[in-house]
Amino acid sequence: MPIDFNNKTQQFHIHNEFISYIMYVLPNGELGHLYFGQRLPEGRDYTYQKTNMNHVLKAYTADDDSYLCLEDTLQELPVYGRGDYRGESLRIKYEDGSYINKFTYKEHYVYDGIKQHTLVSMPHVHDEKKCGMTTLEVILLDSYRQVEVSLFYILSAKTAAISRHMEIRNLSSARVVIEQCASLNLDLNEASYDLLQLDGAWSRERHPSIRTLDTGVTSFSSIRGSSSANHNPFFALLSEHVTEDLGDCIGIALIYSGNFNARIEINQYKQTRAQIGINENGFHWNLESGECFETPQAVVSFSQNGLNGLSQNMHRFIDYHILPTPKRDEPYVLINNWEATYFDFDEKKIVEIATEASQLGMDLFVLDDGWFVGRDSDRSALGDWFVNKDKLPEGLAGLSRKIKALGIDFGLWIEPEMTNIESILYKEHPDWVIHHPAYPMSVGRHQYVLDYSRVEVVDTIYERISACLVEGKVDYVKWDMNRLISEPYSSHLSPDQQGELFHRHILGVYDLYNRLVSAFPHILFESCASGGGRFDLGLLYFAPQTWTSDDTDPVERLYIQNGTSYLYPLATMGSHVAADINHQTLRKTSLSYRSDVALFGTYGYEMDVTLLSDDEKNIIKKQIIFFKKHWDLIHKGSFYRLESPVIPSKKNVNDLLSWMVVSEDKKQAMVGVYQILTKPSPNVQRIYLRGLDPKGEYIETATNSFYSGAELMTFGYVLDDFYTGIASDLHDKLGKSQQIFGHGDFTSKIIVLSMKEE
Ligand code: GLA
Repeated sequence: MPIDFNNKTQQFHIHNEFISYIMYVLPNGELGHLYFGQRLPEGRDYTYQKTNMNHVLKAYTADDDSYLCLEDTLQELPVYGRGDYRGESLRIKYEDGSYINKFTYKEHYVYDGIKQHTLVSMPHVHDEKKCGMTTLEVILLDSYRQVEVSLFYILSAKTAAISRHMEIRNLSSARVVIEQCASLNLDLNEASYDLLQLDGAWSRERHPSIRTLDTGVTSFSSIRGSSSANHNPFFALLSEHVTEDLGDCIGIALIYSGNFNARIEINQYKQTRAQIGINENGFHWNLESGECFETPQAVVSFSQNGLNGLSQNMHRFIDYHILPTPKRDEPYVLINNWEATYFDFDEKKIVEIATEASQLGMDLFVLDDGWFVGRDSDRSALGDWFVNKDKLPEGLAGLSRKIKALGIDFGLWIEPEMTNIESILYKEHPDWVIHHPAYPMSVGRHQYVLDYSRVEVVDTIYERISACLVEGKVDYVKWDMNRLISEPYSSHLSPDQQGELFHRHILGVYDLYNRLVSAFPHILFESCASGGGRFDLGLLYFAPQTWTSDDTDPVERLYIQNGTSYLYPLATMGSHVAADINHQTLRKTSLSYRSDVALFGTYGYEMDVTLLSDDEKNIIKKQIIFFKKHWDLIHKGSFYRLESPVIPSKKNVNDLLSWMVVSEDKKQAMVGVYQILTKPSPNVQRIYLRGLDPKGEYIETATNSFYSGAELMTFGYVLDDFYTGIASDLHDKLGKSQQIFGHGDFTSKIIVLSMKEE
């Protein structure tokens, strides 16, 4: 049984073959935490591992032998005002104006499988791949307040990860107000951690930063109405000397797309408290008598094998328990017309692009923004999902028919959460926009956020969008979201419910996702928020891939995709080969470099393919064949960062970045090596591969060279292609249009290895 409870010691031990999570009922009845990390032997009593000491100037729970001070006791549900002066994980305001409460152990249940969410529209872990999951529900009660809390721990049998969330039930006759409710609270005995988080802005999302934690509070959050490009709802705690491959680390991520807060506190006794949940800022929730509130789920994982190990745990967890069952479990390559045409297209142009794309071997054409009435720029028409017959005389049906006649699928861009003042929708329903009537409305990209806390808004948009999806026989949807919430006020909610708006809004977004995903089960959804402004586990539950960034420059993409890979699998990262010169950075790079970077993602094209030379078309045809051939390896293999700028290795003397994927059976592997800026007089450079079978013999496809797995991992793969400044070396080995790796800035090399069959 993966969950043991010892009645005598009141200790819970949650375990699988990788990890242990141990907690126990404290002498005062509250729930204490003991341990999270590498698997420990079961059947043992760990409650002797006390964490609190008898210090001066503290508040104790009793004046007898059962004395306990909450300030240095590791806990599962720390609360306000009873001697724990650190940040609480649950704060409730009661009718008497006070926040004081005490939740003590009442009972617990172990369920085979997943205990269902009461809010069915909220993203949550699932077990569609039948890996095996077990749920522990521990019920805690404040008998004075008559408020009950269920803490849920859902353990996956096949990954080193546990999800946690809580339900708060009001059993009293009075209203209570929840002001804060962290989905996960993890108290740790040590404070020797560095913090890794993923930060950014538009077009440079998820750049990792690492800082050493010290006494006090470190936090980051979003109050923008979405998880945001600025901070991702994820962090990792790294023990001393963690590298990509070595050392203990803990990763924590929230399965939620709205405002969040991540908070790490180190106290005076050098203990760490890590929390993640809905952002308490701008939030309160009225819980009426008999009602229940459920927090989003959070996932926590532990790795002994450094950051690559942690990422692989998370990738597996996301694949098994977050992503929907694949709609297309086969390789496909899409083309999107956004950077090719922006708003300036008609049916003829679109069909020309799609025709060329189909001849190049692409499988799906995605019509981006600008296809509906009044949408010739980003100033108008969001909310009016009626086809523009001037651009598309035969409607979506006609265009889709022509595209499908080419033998490829048809995809469509939508942005259902928004409207413009210049729209029929806004003119009819100005109160459907989130705003405060007394203040000017702030604006972003000339548009406004629809109030999805109102079900009639969700109903209307559902009707309009589904009509388009039916008409266009749509196979794929790019669901965009291009502005943040400001003036958070809903004319539909009562004054004392305004603190519920952000959460109700995102529940409305999830409601629309649920409805569309259920009504159109064959459609593949890709989420987008001005690129990667809402790349989170909440949306991945509905839309298994996210447009990683509006930035299609391969150099910036190396950093973005590298940062994103700390939590998210390659199969979730939308990656396109775009035109030269790049539209976001104005950088010039070769077609092969752009493709080699996009290869480590979903892979597609975003350029006007009708303008390509024959030479470029031939290259693209080969790129597509190559991607499709290795799709299985790229999307299903284990991913390793070999050289990452996040933890720079002293062995990386030539400004390289390098990634690798290895198939589960270790028989296939692919390595990408990317030169950023060339160094004169380069050193001999090796890269050390990972995850191979040390005893296996591998053949490198391009050169027919044989290597042992051990050799590639410990002696290293020698990159001897670097240009040393000797002009006679400048012969073109691969043909005019291919750059040689190491010969100049922004060159790349893809190494394919297969294990020799016996
Ligand atoms: C956002 C998206 C782009 C594109 C435009 C269309 O910026 O991130 O990919 O779809 O909107 O307006």
